[in-house]
Amino acid sequence: MKYLTIALAKGRLAEISMDLFEKIGLDCSEMRKKSRKLIFTDEKNKVKFILVKASDVPTYVEYGAADIGVVGKDTLLEEGRNLYEMIDLGVGKCRMCVCGPEKMRSQLSTTNNLRVASKFTNIARNYFFREKGRTVEIIKLHGSVELAPLVGLSEVIVDIVESGKTLQENGLCVLETICDISARFVVNRVSMKMERERILEIVSKMKAVMDTEEG
Ligand code: PRP
Repeated sequence: MKYLTIALAKGRLAEISMDLFEKIGLDCSEMRKKSRKLIFTDEKNKVKFILVKASDVPTYVEYGAADIGVVGKDTLLEEGRNLYEMIDLGVGKCRMCVCGPEKMRSQLSTTNNLRVASKFTNIARNYFFREKGRTVEIIKLHGSVELAPLVGLSEVIVDIVESGKTLQENGLCVLETICDISARFVVNRVSMKMERERILEIVSKMKAVMDTEEG
């Protein structure tokens, strides 16, 4: 039997994903041990897990280097890859928001040449250009985005808000909510045909675990 390869997003989401895969009977014990390894094998179930940077999960899955991936909706929206989004796992919940200092609330719709800093430039562009019909300047950052309005790099940011703590501790607030985010189970299009039964079995077991936990 061929190995099924599952791509997990390094960090918090990998931990949450491991919990889910263990609940459906896959062995993640090797991956739980702190190491720098990037590939882990569950010989019994013929599954390989690979740990990749969150924003690369859709790439591995689209190209078929991974059959399955678990990744945030934020990354899927930003990367716009061609793959099947099978399940909303209902974990890793947060919101994609426009944030800034409270004083920007009244000025947001009227400021000319609004500068928007974000790690999610496609999401930001789509929101301001398409949904709002506005021309804004999008500034790409790679992290600690909350800093941008504090030092005058931008007026607002587009970023993920989970607990709201980062905003609060930096004197910023949510000005507009763009969309809700959660972790998604995604599948390569060819794998979905070639390994249909095994993948659908994983999907139905995942759904059963989610139903049990909800109930
Ligand atoms: C994310 C996000 C916010 C923060 C939100 O950053 O970009 O900064 O978490 O969480 P909170 O609302 O619970 O405070 P991440 O931890 O990925 O770090 P980064 O900014 O360096 O990318």
